[in-house]
Amino acid sequence: MNTLHQVLAADLEEHRRQGILKGQERVISAIVPGKDGLGPRVLLAGQGQTPYLRMNSNSYLGLDQHPAPAKAAEEAVARYGVGHGAVRFISGTMQPHIDLESELARFHERPAAMIFSSAYAAVLGVLAPLITPETAVISDELNHNSIINGLRLATPAVKKIYGHLDMAELEKCITECQGQVRRVLIVSDGIFSMRGDHAPLAAITSLRDRYGQDFAEGILTIIDDSHGVGVFGATGRGCEEFCRSRVDLVIGTLGKAFGVNGGYVTGAAELIGYLRESAACYIYSNPITPAEAAAARCSVELVAGPEGAARLGTLRRLTRHLEQGLIELGFQIIESDHPIVPVVTGDTGRNRRLADFLFAKNILVTPLSYPVVPRGADEIRLQVSAAHAQQDIDFLLDVLQEFAEAGS
Ligand SMILES: Cc1ncc(COP(=O)(O)O)c(C=O)c1O
Repeated sequence: MNTLHQVLAADLEEHRRQGILKGQERVISAIVPGKDGLGPRVLLAGQGQTPYLRMNSNSYLGLDQHPAPAKAAEEAVARYGVGHGAVRFISGTMQPHIDLESELARFHERPAAMIFSSAYAAVLGVLAPLITPETAVISDELNHNSIINGLRLATPAVKKIYGHLDMAELEKCITECQGQVRRVLIVSDGIFSMRGDHAPLAAITSLRDRYGQDFAEGILTIIDDSHGVGVFGATGRGCEEFCRSRVDLVIGTLGKAFGVNGGYVTGAAELIGYLRESAACYIYSNPITPAEAAAARCSVELVAGPEGAARLGTLRRLTRHLEQGLIELGFQIIESDHPIVPVVTGDTGRNRRLADFLFAKNILVTPLSYPVVPRGADEIRLQVSAAHAQQDIDFLLDVLQEFAEAGS
């Protein structure tokens, strides 16, 4: 046993040496509501009453702190309790689960939707049953870890990876599969979580339409739009809305823009009906709680209504303000229409120094290095929220200017 512990410790030590150890997690001990023209702050365990500006939350619309979903959750707890006591097909399906699935299907203008305990579980649950030994699966090289592991659980005839967003290479992958397999599955992130850029869905779906008839069971397109749903596109319907193109299955999370927790997939009734009978992460694992389902349904309704539109407008304005400020200060960023704003440092040491500098000024950010991003693509991922105030963004820009002037 000692030997195993020593091997594991040496492995972590190597991570530390390379500067990629995630290390001790920061613990949020309280959330302080926004006041005096500033957005909310968080308190951290061990840091007393020091308020921190959180620039690394996925709650892009600030709905995690909205009173309406909180009230919906409280009412569901009063009615159903805090858990469900069984997986869905035994006796764990409660009315809020069904109501949420209908709401999600409506939101995405699809016949059906089903929920999972998380988007990660949704990806694992969806991919394996749809990939047969006569299927070729084709995946973007920068797809999220859930897709990478989902493909590891599957048994395709052929697995191909194309260069990030490289549609010529995707087309080549498809044509190489002609005559080899009955079914092709193209899988991509919608929004790429480390960069804020998006899959070119118009090109992907036009390849599907062009080559689909060459395969007995056609080409199925699937996106994991966890960072897109609720926040990307004119009304927050995600990459499909932004690209004006529809894929076959959209996977999303309830734990980012919708501010709650859980995952889902939406698409044709035949596909969803099949997945309910075959997705292991759905059949053998508990769903989200009734309270989470009720809160998430409320959030989806909020996004679809005038409050969602107002919050999306604020978010776009703040994101543009931050991007322009960073460009003026000379930082290298990856520009996009998404509130993920990566500041590319390209160097693990500089990345860490910048994150530490910001922390010392009471700003929380996420430094990303290999293996989360490719080597040499180290970045600080900033994430804007509609809950931020313009003064928060100006404060962040002032601190970044200080860092740049110090020549760090
Ligand atoms: C693209 C993508 N898919 C899935 C997930 C996982 O979402 P969840 O927390 O709902 O499992 C993430 C989370 O970071 C993500 O970025």
